[in-house]
Amino acid sequence: IKGFDFVDGCPVPKSLRISMFHKKWKFHRDLPPTQVFAYGTSKQDATVPGPTIEAHQGISTHIKWKNHLPSKHILPWDPTIPTAIPHTKKGIPTVVHLHGGIDGPESDGHATSWFTSRFKERGPSWTKKTYHYHNMQHPGTLWYHDHAMGLTRVNLLAGLVGAYVIRQPDVELPLGLPYDEEFDRPLVVFDRGFLKDGSIFMNSTGNNPSIHPQWQPEYFGDAIVVNGKAWPYMIVKRRKYRFRIINASNARFFKFCFNNGLRFIHVASDSAYNEKPVTIKDVLLAPSEIADVIVDFSKSKSDSAILCNDAPYPYPSGDPVNEANSKVMKFVIKNGHELDTSKIPRKLIDYPSPNLSDASATRYIAMYEYTSDIDEPTHLYINGKPFEAPVTETPKIGATEIWYVINLTEDNHPLHIHLGLFVALDQTELVDVDKFKECMLKMNDAVKCKVDKYARGKKIEVPAHEKGWKNVYKMMPGYVTKIVVKFSYIHSNDSYPFDATAEPGYVYHCHVSDSYLSSPHS
Ligand code: C2O
Repeated sequence: IKGFDFVDGCPVPKSLRISMFHKKWKFHRDLPPTQVFAYGTSKQDATVPGPTIEAHQGISTHIKWKNHLPSKHILPWDPTIPTAIPHTKKGIPTVVHLHGGIDGPESDGHATSWFTSRFKERGPSWTKKTYHYHNMQHPGTLWYHDHAMGLTRVNLLAGLVGAYVIRQPDVELPLGLPYDEEFDRPLVVFDRGFLKDGSIFMNSTGNNPSIHPQWQPEYFGDAIVVNGKAWPYMIVKRRKYRFRIINASNARFFKFCFNNGLRFIHVASDSAYNEKPVTIKDVLLAPSEIADVIVDFSKSKSDSAILCNDAPYPYPSGDPVNEANSKVMKFVIKNGHELDTSKIPRKLIDYPSPNLSDASATRYIAMYEYTSDIDEPTHLYINGKPFEAPVTETPKIGATEIWYVINLTEDNHPLHIHLGLFVALDQTELVDVDKFKECMLKMNDAVKCKVDKYARGKKIEVPAHEKGWKNVYKMMPGYVTKIVVKFSYIHSNDSYPFDATAEPGYVYHCHVSDSYLSSPHS
């Protein structure tokens, strides 16, 4: 769907209506149709993932997101965790977040700005029906997905995800990369479990059912779904293709590879171009991360190539992949020489790097788990605070800040910051983690607990292809990750076209969509 119109050859703003419907979706030839929730302009056109929205840099897209979902969810959810629950108990709360978007807080899809069918009930921070996306940032790949309090994991699993691309032809066309519909494609990848009757399988018993009857902190399924089909194939020509790969899983990391030695030429990640193309043999993507890569099928020695996955789940210390989830999709490569005028330039786009001396604040963000005898599974908090706690971080619009993100959990957590784009600088291992953790559990303050004294282990460099501006980064367990955040990075130096200080503010959180450890700031 185009998010802009053309008038006399010039792009102009456009208004769209996109609704959420309950319908059936065929994930695989051998699987009966599955009940899903799908985005679309009509029930008939609704798809999983939803339609790809193509926006134009600098031209606004207005979207009225409408909820046509029934009263009852197709998946089990759990009212014992903080959750959006309508008073009438009717209708499924939803709200849409444009992941990577830089827009006003009232259009950001805050978790408590949910609404039910026909806007009958609205969450406490709901303000308006039509969201305004300015598309003022640089060109790149974003995605939209549900963000409702306590229901994000089930609403995503039900199908409420879609790709969003901001294009700027005058800047991007001269690069020469594949750029037209046939050769430039989003791949929205997620894992699902299915039952024989076609329904989505989700274990409906929680890890500690006497406290949380249903809640499980992570979801994994064995079937890998790409653009709405399980283990699909795609017929390609012997030439370069561009794939904007979005990991839309709740908890699964993917480490993509090719079984026949093909390489990925990484040109951009979540929301921004790299300075230079980087050739890599695997692409590690956390939930919600994006890799924009070129694959040159003319380099293939075989006539098919399997896109494989080799990431343990949970990442990095969980089970190794198995026969099912180690395969993602297959490319069937047509024979014969293809004319390919696309090219991979030596340089892409060199956005100004953050200036550390401009930093107006330094923050320490520690993620850790609290265990109590009565409350299993453990709850994840940031600096010891739950989502409901008052606002903790209050950066100024346009400010640059340094954040030290301290991951004291066992798992890698993809940290996502709304509104802010950031550059990851380095990761330093913590020594004597247990001692440090003990202090943190008492004091909830990384400075008082002398984090510097503990952050003196191994240093890990940020991989070349992840050195640019991003909105998600993988926080290694047992490490402190230093990032420099800009609130926020828009394309021009014009004044901000929205009031970023308005209510309800923005959140930052781990993107394992089941935990939602997050803390609002405005
Ligand atoms: Cu991709 Cu707060 O979300």
